[in-house]
Amino acid sequence: MTRKKIAAGNWKMNLTADQGQSLVGAIVQADRPSDVLTILGVPHPYLQAAVQQASANRGVQIAAQNMHEAISGAYTGEVSVDMLLSLGVRHVILGHSERREYQKESNELLKTKVDLALEKGLIPIFCCGESLDIRKSGEHVTYVSSQLQASLFHLSAEDFGKIVIAYEPIWAIGTGETASPEQAQEMHAAIRNLIKEKYGSDTAESCSILYGGSVKPANAKEIFGQSDVDGGLVGGASLKAEDFLSIIRSF
Ligand code: PGA
Repeated sequence: MTRKKIAAGNWKMNLTADQGQSLVGAIVQADRPSDVLTILGVPHPYLQAAVQQASANRGVQIAAQNMHEAISGAYTGEVSVDMLLSLGVRHVILGHSERREYQKESNELLKTKVDLALEKGLIPIFCCGESLDIRKSGEHVTYVSSQLQASLFHLSAEDFGKIVIAYEPIWAIGTGETASPEQAQEMHAAIRNLIKEKYGSDTAESCSILYGGSVKPANAKEIFGQSDVDGGLVGGASLKAEDFLSIIRSF
């Protein structure tokens, strides 16, 4: 079974509107391999413009970096799933380690967000991954397994099949330190195995699992070359068109 190859950028809280517009334009207009889906995770204020810029190009989709768990209501400053859908947004990053840490997002809360996104037709890019302490203790597979169990494994096989998973070891995010290709492959294979045990081989084999954590032009090819790595969720290196395009062309 061939899995979708995905290069997803996560701009986080970076760039002005003008800079963002130039970056989306450069990615949309550039030559990119036709079998790679490019997703740009842009800040909320830029979503509408980015969706419009990308609409001419079928290989590029726009993601939100978060959404609220309630459908609507008195939640000042928050953004709802229906708002995102009404702009033409197709994906939402959920469970990024920065939100787990700074906004105290729990597995339980993420389960609610995943359910709402799927119910409404937004595709979650669900992030999981362990801290350095957990990695050093050798419990990384158990830890990531517990994240998937708690937030995803209640889903039906059909719903699970819509999700994209991003494995992002916290110790490799924004640190310049990358998991070795072997470490990435070990964890991706373990995640795929957990999915297989829960949902069977077809679902496991068709699930795209992205690696995130200091992916850059210099290491993308080797990481994406691992058999269970289907692409990347890229932070810092997605902020420069040249670097991100080089990553998109690394498959
Ligand atoms: P990074 O971030 O590529 O800057 O390490 C990845 C992420 O947090 O998604």
